[in-house]
Formats: sequence, structure tokens, C-alpha cells
Amino acid sequence: MERSWFHKERFPLFLVLGLLLQGRGGTFIINCSGFGQHGMYPTVLDSVFERKAFRPVTNFSIPTLVNISFTMSAILDVDEQLQLLSSFLWLEMVWDNPFTRWNPEECEGITKISVATKNLWLPDIFIVEFMNVDKTPKGLTAYVSNEGRIRYKKPMKMTSICNLDILYFPFDQQNCTLTFSSFLYTVENMLLGTEKEVWEIADTSRDIVQTHGDWELLGINKATPKMSLGTSLYDQIMFYVAIRRKPRLYIINLLVPSGFLVAIDALSFYLPAESGNRAPFKITLLLGYNVFLLMMNDLLPTNGTPLISVYFALCLSLMVVSLLETIFITYLLHLATTQPPPMPWWLRSLLLYCTSPMKCCPTALQKRNKPLGLPPAHLPGVKEPVELVGKMPGPREAELNVRPGSTRDKQEDETQKQHLVAPWVQFSHMMDTLLFCLYLLFMTTSVVTVIVLWNT
Ligand SMILES: *[C@@H]1O[C@H](CO)[C@@H](O)[C@H](O)[C@H]1NC(C)=O
Ligand SMILES: *[C@@H]1O[C@H](CO)[C@@H](O)[C@H](O)[C@H]1NC(C)=O
Ligand SMILES: *[C@@H]1O[C@H](CO)[C@@H](O)[C@H](O)[C@H]1NC(C)=O
Ligand SMILES: *[C@@H]1O[C@H](CO)[C@@H](O)[C@H](O)[C@H]1NC(C)=O
Repeated sequence: MERSWFHKERFPLFLVLGLLLQGRGGTFIINCSGFGQHGMYPTVLDSVFERKAFRPVTNFSIPTLVNISFTMSAILDVDEQLQLLSSFLWLEMVWDNPFTRWNPEECEGITKISVATKNLWLPDIFIVEFMNVDKTPKGLTAYVSNEGRIRYKKPMKMTSICNLDILYFPFDQQNCTLTFSSFLYTVENMLLGTEKEVWEIADTSRDIVQTHGDWELLGINKATPKMSLGTSLYDQIMFYVAIRRKPRLYIINLLVPSGFLVAIDALSFYLPAESGNRAPFKITLLLGYNVFLLMMNDLLPTNGTPLISVYFALCLSLMVVSLLETIFITYLLHLATTQPPPMPWWLRSLLLYCTSPMKCCPTALQKRNKPLGLPPAHLPGVKEPVELVGKMPGPREAELNVRPGSTRDKQEDETQKQHLVAPWVQFSHMMDTLLFCLYLLFMTTSVVTVIVLWNT
């Protein structure tokens, strides 16, 4: 009952309202006889177009409410050095123009028409972080509905400044702000709002984002603090766009190879120290790592010190340290086998204590777990004793060349020397094992620390 009454009465009511408004000095309702079968009559909206220089309100103390939303259609680039985020936005603005109202029943049911924006008043919304000239294409149109609501969309390639924190590169998240505000109008004249909820904006953006490049959109947040400049107060809407880097490329190209190199470096401790292969091998690894770093330098952000640089420096220093250790052990072995000084008693007892079977690195020790005073000929690869053994004259040779007495003297000399050499060789191996344990410990703690830092 009531509804039908409403339907019947709406048209006259509308007219009465229109006449009332007209009576207050202005054509608020467009005369629809221009919306004929031959398309739009050219002058039908002239009354609106002529007012485009002014904010479309009937009472200037009423602020214009502009609803803003956007869809992020692409994240093009994030420039860490210049701290810029390049993205592509479809910006949508909705506001009311009380002068573009018509009755669709009069107007062949037309509820919205598109109008070239150059004929309309447009709100001067800008993005505070915008760091580029606005290259909005010319000749856009807006939808005008019969209730006077104007819906204007424009594409924008946006380069916005963004405070980028690359500490956690390549596992970093960035939080970029887009602040929409009016350039001219203060809160008395313009208020900003949002039609959609932020999660809707985030969802549509996530569906639409074109590039499957380096970044993914995590979410969007909103805040609406007013901005005061001098005595004027401006309304503004801040959108916080959270994006996350896809780390796969960097894991495959940076972390895995350097992890492998360090692992090989650690494994190379199992090359026998006496063979003399260890140091060249480590030098080769170090060179390889340097080449790798040079090649991968392009992938790293150029400013700041991300954690990954610390990680690389750590890997490099681990390699250098292990090379130094090898040099030290080689030197120790050389010293032990050529001119062994008598071993101090405390070192000897320490050695005895340490070789007892309850120590830190059992596997490494087992390898070298030989009792003190074993004839050095059994030590693998120890050059000098082996040479000495090789030089030991056979019985026939001895008979031929030297007197038996001196041979025995020499033999005793050798045994004496070998008794000196053996503990030192053992000590070298002990040192090697100990330093290897320290190296492993340091490596694990630092790698774990870096990983933990990355995860927070
Ligand atoms: C609309 O304009 C036509 C002439 O163009 C006129 O006859 C008609 O009365 C007008 N209607 C209104 C509601 O002003
Ligand atoms: C405009 O609106 C204000 C408050 O909304 C009101 O006080 C004032 O009388 C209005 N002016 C006119 C001309 O209607
Ligand atoms: C703006 O959005 C709010 C809902 O958030 C709505 O009530 C209001 O009518 C809209 N205004 C315009 C001009 O679109
Ligand atoms: C982004 O930063 C703002 C404050 O600067 C904060 O309110 C907001 O929650 C942050 N957003 C995310 C997703 O971290």
C-alpha cells in the first residue's frame, strides 16, 4: 500500500522538490527533453558545464565529501637507493554534484551518462608521496548518475617515495605509505572518505596485480589523521601498503652457492694436513668465492648494509680464518718434523689428558688417536721421519759403507729424534682438531644467529 503510494507520489514530489530548489535560484534538475532518440542534445548539461570552475555545492558552508579508493594493478619496481616505489594505480574518486540531477523516468530510463572530465569540476586530490609529474592521460571521462553522483577513475603510474628498510634483504617486507589529500581545500570545504573497506581494496589489488615479479602485495591498512599546515587543517587518508619481496631468486643465486662453498671449506679440514693439498684447495675456494661475490654484486641493494652482506662477509672471513689455520698447522708440522724442541712437561701432560677418550670432537680425534711415543714411521705422510726411515741404511749397505758402531749411534739418534717428533706431530693434529671444532662452533653460531635475525 505504502509502497505504491510512494511510487505514484514520487514523480510529483520530485517535481515539487525541483521547483522548490529552482525557486532558490538555480536549475538543480536537468530538463530531460534533451535526452532524445537522437542521442544527447548538446546543450542539455550546459548549466552544469558552465559551473565547472566552482565547487558544486548549493551552500558553500557544506563541505564536499570525496570518496577515494584505488586498485594497485602492478608493482613495477622498488629502488632501494633512491627509496622509491614504482607502481601502477587505478584511482577512483566519487563525489556529489547537486546540479546534475534528473529524473530517469522522464529521461527514457537513463540513470547514468558519461561526460568528458574537462567539462566537470574535479577534486584536486593528490598523493603526498608522489615524486613524479602526473602523466594522467588526457580526455578521460567520468560517469554521472541521475542522483548527481560523479564517479571518476584514472590510471596513474606512480613513483612514490617510501622509507625502505633493506636490513632483512632478501626476506624484507616494506611498508609504503600513500597519503591522499586535497591540495587546496581545507576541512571546511572538503572531506575525504572511503567507500570500500581496505581489505576489499587489498583483495581486488591482489587479484589484479599484473606482474609476477619480485614483489607481492601483503595487505593494506588505513589511517585518517588530519594534517595541519599553519592555520589550515587538511583532511587526508593514509594507506599503508605492505609488500614483501619474493626471496626465491636470491636464495637460489646467493645463499645456496655461498652455503655450499662454506660447507666445502669446512669439509676440507678432513684433507690430511701433512699432504700439503689443503692450503691450495682452500686458496682456490677463497678465489672462487671472491669471483662469486663479484658476479652477484648486482643483485644486492647498493645502499645500506643488509644482513646478507654481513653473512657474505662472515663466509669470507670463515674461509680466510680456515686458510690461516691451515697455514699455522702446516707450519707447526714442519717445525715438528724438522727441528722439534723438547716438549714442555705441561704440554705433554695436557696432550696425555686430551688423548684420553672423552673429548669434545670424538670423530676428529679418533682419526688421530694414537698413543704417545709411537714410532713415527707409522704416522702417515710425515715427511721427515719417513725420509729418515727411508734413508736408514739396510744391513748390507751398512756393512759396506759405515762401521757398525756408528750405524747404531745414528740409529739411536734417529730414535731419539723420533721420540721428540711424535708428540709434536700429535700436538699439531690436536691443535688442528681443536681449531676445527672452534671453527665449526663459530660457523654454526653465526649462521644460526643470522637465520634467527632473518626470521624476526
Ligand atoms: C523542458 O524543456 C521543454 C522545452 O525544451 C519544455 O517544454 C518543458 O516544459 C521543460 N520541462 C521542465 C520540467 O522544465
Ligand atoms: C548554509 O548552511 C549553514 C549550515 O549548514 C546554514 O547555517 C546556512 O544558513 C546555510 N546558508 C544558506 C544560504 O542556506
Ligand atoms: C562515501 O562512502 C560512504 C560510505 O563509506 C557513503 O555513506 C557516502 O554516501 C559516500 N559518499 C559519496 C559522495 O560517494
Ligand atoms: C605500516 O606502518 C604504519 C605506521 O608507520 C603502521 O601503523 C602500520 O600498521 C604498518 N603496516 C604494516 C602492514 O606493517
